[in-house]
Amino acid sequence: MIKTNLRSKSTVMKVYDKESPVYYPKRFSSEGGKYIDFIEKELLIRYGKGPSLFEIGTATGRFVGFVEKTGWDYTGIDISAQMLRLSRDNGCKLVQGDAEEIPLRSSIFDTVICLHTFHFLPSPLACVRESQRILKPGGLLILIFETDNWLRRIVLRTHMFDSDQYYFRTQEVAAMIQSCALTPMAQGSVLKFPMDLYRRLPITKWLKQLDSSSHWPSWFATLGFAIGRKDEPEDGALA
Ligand SMILES: C[S@@+](CC[C@H](N)C(=O)[O-])C[C@H]1O[C@@H](n2cnc3c(N)ncnc32)[C@H](O)[C@@H]1O
Repeated sequence: MIKTNLRSKSTVMKVYDKESPVYYPKRFSSEGGKYIDFIEKELLIRYGKGPSLFEIGTATGRFVGFVEKTGWDYTGIDISAQMLRLSRDNGCKLVQGDAEEIPLRSSIFDTVICLHTFHFLPSPLACVRESQRILKPGGLLILIFETDNWLRRIVLRTHMFDSDQYYFRTQEVAAMIQSCALTPMAQGSVLKFPMDLYRRLPITKWLKQLDSSSHWPSWFATLGFAIGRKDEPEDGALA
């Protein structure tokens, strides 16, 4: 695991409040941004389950329409009031709050997702614990996070880029999942190259092929995923 200059929650809130009007267009409106969005939605379709989904770190709600089109019910939490204000236009259920202390009842969601947010949290383990608590038995937690690998370490050592987050090895996230009474179900890579590269380069057939290749060394992936399932209570035990 790599930990760089993690920001305080109040700084994160201020940064995202300010960023909210440009958050989506800056990241997901280019051809490459749409490709990233597509890949992540495919992963949710493949692994998620309904009918109730909770997103941790909604930003402006890029998954709201998609989740509701699937016929599921969307609820989300974000620390930034301005991000939520923009999502509210979509008419979904939203809560302003902290991923590490979710102000909701236990055992109420079929799927919890936390994408591109997990690696910014001061205590990612607290987030996994809270996700486990709000999941129904049999429910799934889907995490997408930036990865720790030797290439990343070299790049960070150059100090060419500012960094204020964690980077995880996929096995470390799987271990966190397991330590919070979730059974690891699947893990792997989401994207092979840096996100900025996808946003800048034309998304050619060649790039897509390379990106989806299973013969690609895992140390090259930039974005990973890990999925855990909340175990069903044993006969006679309370959920
Ligand atoms: C990079 S965005 C990711 C948004 C969205 N999941 C996506 O993939 O497009 C991170 C979001 O997490 C929110 N966030 C950061 N720390 C948080 C915390 N402790 N609790 C809840 N939300 C938080 C930020 O306000 C921001 O909207």
